[in-house]
Amino acid sequence: MSQNPKLESSILIIFGITGDLAKRKVLPAIYRLCKDNLLPEGTKIIGISRREVSKDEILDTVNLCVSEENNVCDPDIIHKLSSWLEMFKLDPLVDEDYINLSHYLSSIEQAAGKCMDRLFYLSIPPQVYGPIITSLGKHGLNSSCEHQKAVTRLLVEKPFGYDITSAEELINETEKVFSEEQIFRIDHYLAKETAQNILKFRRHNPVFSSQWDAKHISRIHVIAKEKIGIENRVNFYENVGAMRDLIQSHLMQLLALTAMDMPQELTSDEVHSKKYEFLASLIPQTVREEVLNSVIRGQYDSYKEEVNNPHSATETFVSMILKSNNPTWKNCIFQLTTGKSLDEKATIIQVYFGDSNPNILTFRIQPDEGIDINLIIEQPGFIHNLRTVKMNFSYSQDFDDSHDAYERVLVDAIRGDKLLFATKKEILTSWHLLQPILNSWQTNNDDLRIYKSGSQGPAITILNDTVSDKLN
Ligand code: BG6
Repeated sequence: MSQNPKLESSILIIFGITGDLAKRKVLPAIYRLCKDNLLPEGTKIIGISRREVSKDEILDTVNLCVSEENNVCDPDIIHKLSSWLEMFKLDPLVDEDYINLSHYLSSIEQAAGKCMDRLFYLSIPPQVYGPIITSLGKHGLNSSCEHQKAVTRLLVEKPFGYDITSAEELINETEKVFSEEQIFRIDHYLAKETAQNILKFRRHNPVFSSQWDAKHISRIHVIAKEKIGIENRVNFYENVGAMRDLIQSHLMQLLALTAMDMPQELTSDEVHSKKYEFLASLIPQTVREEVLNSVIRGQYDSYKEEVNNPHSATETFVSMILKSNNPTWKNCIFQLTTGKSLDEKATIIQVYFGDSNPNILTFRIQPDEGIDINLIIEQPGFIHNLRTVKMNFSYSQDFDDSHDAYERVLVDAIRGDKLLFATKKEILTSWHLLQPILNSWQTNNDDLRIYKSGSQGPAITILNDTVSDKLN
């Protein structure tokens, strides 16, 4: 984004402004956007909370400047933010409060002398989306003022459902009030710089684009390792686990970007259509035997104690193998691996060109964003030994302009660009694929492997060796 997009001034209405996500991600992203002059004068930010909270309380207590040296904020930017931010007390179950909100938004527009785009950001747990979305519709807050001269959008966070049924319910309930066009479902991994680059890289580098199929690629492995554990999110995580938390959303999306057919144009519609086609081509494992052979789940050793549940079978680690019925990918192995409390934080996508001594192209999504590839060369000297060396590109060395995923999420939602957001078809297809595995896990916990915190997780060699042979 070195050439900044020109945005219209709009009203950003944040439900859950006092919550963890708003404090950690959304507000610091707004600070950065403000600092980089991406948000125009006239922008309004309305912080919704149940209890009376002053804007100073928000501005004083939230660490807005995490990206700045020594966390020190620029006073001019804080001043600007303060003039844009207003707090609004609203009880999600009280009709009167929505009526007041509607009047309040109209008064802002009257003062500005124009209809403004409105973006409702539900930075709250999805379990409480339902009543809020219904009430927004009931009080006409799903459309904008004066015959749609401006647009109203809804920005929502994952998890989109707990299983296929609840995902369908959530999608249906939301659709009663907002059209698919208006709904922006955040998958913040799609907004990470390197994730965005995947399609462009594939398209514009003929040396790779001409070889992007199973004839040349034997395996694609998407890995998201985390060093952190569940960080006090006991209730959330006990009900969710690694499969729902990361595989269902972030990792499936990254895999789809890596393996989808390349569309004619990289427009939002075409990209979503190809992504969906790829996800729909993945073959579900419906029989327990298949699940045991192709999915490994684990739990870190101190987890049960941490959640105070000696019987917990929630997985904090998953590694799984998938295949596609698309002829382009015949016999290619797709592997997804994620885990908490591991030895390092690393999100990478490895693309294996060749079988026995592959050239591995690696997209480093985070940290140290970049791309590398290993090459086989002859070691200098008189003995003809082969060695593997790495060619490496690092974003931080070549560019100094970088934006956090949440900055991009906000910019794209404000300008109505849906490319980086997950569609309902993608979400439901991903659930269809994973639901049989979750069902199988419910029948028996024998396959849950306990691993040491800070380690590399349970051994996944069974998948690497046996299953990939079997699947071939
Ligand atoms: C969230 C998950 O979606 O992504 C968390 O709910 C996880 O469990 C987080 O820690 C990781 O995001 P990032 O951007 O820090 O890799």
